[in-house]
Amino acid sequence: MRKVGIIGGGNVGATCAYQLASRGSADVAIYDILEGVPAGKALDMCQVGPVFGFDGRITGSHDVSIIEGSEVVVVTAGFPRKPGMDRMDLLKKNADIARASGEAIKKYAPDAVVITVTNPLDVMTWVVQQSCGFDASRVVGMAGVLDSARFSTFIAMELGCSPKDVKAMVLGGHGDSMVPLPRFSTVNGVSITELMSAERIEELSNRTRNGGAEIVKLLGTGSAYYAPGAAAALMTEAVLNDSNRLLPASAYLSGQYGLDGMYCGVPVHLGKNGISKILELDLSADELAGLTASAAGVASGIADVQSLANA
Ligand code: NAI
Ligand code: 2OP
Repeated sequence: MRKVGIIGGGNVGATCAYQLASRGSADVAIYDILEGVPAGKALDMCQVGPVFGFDGRITGSHDVSIIEGSEVVVVTAGFPRKPGMDRMDLLKKNADIARASGEAIKKYAPDAVVITVTNPLDVMTWVVQQSCGFDASRVVGMAGVLDSARFSTFIAMELGCSPKDVKAMVLGGHGDSMVPLPRFSTVNGVSITELMSAERIEELSNRTRNGGAEIVKLLGTGSAYYAPGAAAALMTEAVLNDSNRLLPASAYLSGQYGLDGMYCGVPVHLGKNGISKILELDLSADELAGLTASAAGVASGIADVQSLANA
């Protein structure tokens, strides 16, 4: 069985681990700084095996060497957003954790593809890539799959159709300025611009931009984890199965869309070596302006991290 390492066995990490093991996708090793907790969660998940009939092994430890030999490592270590807290507020706390995660991956899983989840997502993906030193194609951030799933959910709710038929596309940084793309969002091939008014599409786009905050407010403590865990599992499976799926994900850009030296959400092909191709869509002037503005927020986050490191 293939092996996936998860750094951070909190809500998102444990949900992702459970999805992967219960779908028979991989053996999963969970690392967390908390003593006992990752081993306890892993044992609990293993005991679902006889109930639902899966044989993937799940282990957990507060010794990071547990991730040794993983083909994919998912980084979810960090602190979630609290009510009223902007994702960028998390920057300081999570940059140190992302750096330590990257160094551990370099040591114990030097051939892995890395999928970062920790927020602020695009900036932390950059930190992980810098600290592990892998080719940028092997370090990718999870946000677009989640944000697009949220947009798809709201479209399905609005139209009263099956979410299975909705394929939406959201690009940009994982923040309030993300860029839902109605032109590239369809219900079984029919563009949503044919199915609802421009005003309604804008309302659903805004709900998508605030999709994480809406759940944070409802939960009162912590942030979303079922859909984030599933989205990270889907990307992991794309790598394990070398399925070359076309997904929106945070990728290192070197000139695409006029952006350079940073991570931002764009459509990519994802397979066993990570990102095999970044798709450059022919965006309208408005769409490109949205993407450029969103990317500017990521660039300033990266600059902040660099200045913290140099301080
Ligand atoms: P959580 O608090 O449930 O879990 C985080 C875990 O990280 C905790 O168990 C903690 O002990 C562990 N941890 C802290 N420092 C560590 C270290 N140095 N090494 C290993 N483990 C360490 O948080 P949750 O809900 O699982 O969220 C995790 C991260 O993912 C947060 O930064 C959150 O904002 C982000 N997130 C990102 C999403 C995205 O779309 N990119 C979606 C949802 C969450
Ligand atoms: C979310 O979008 C908190 O980034 C996290 O749910």
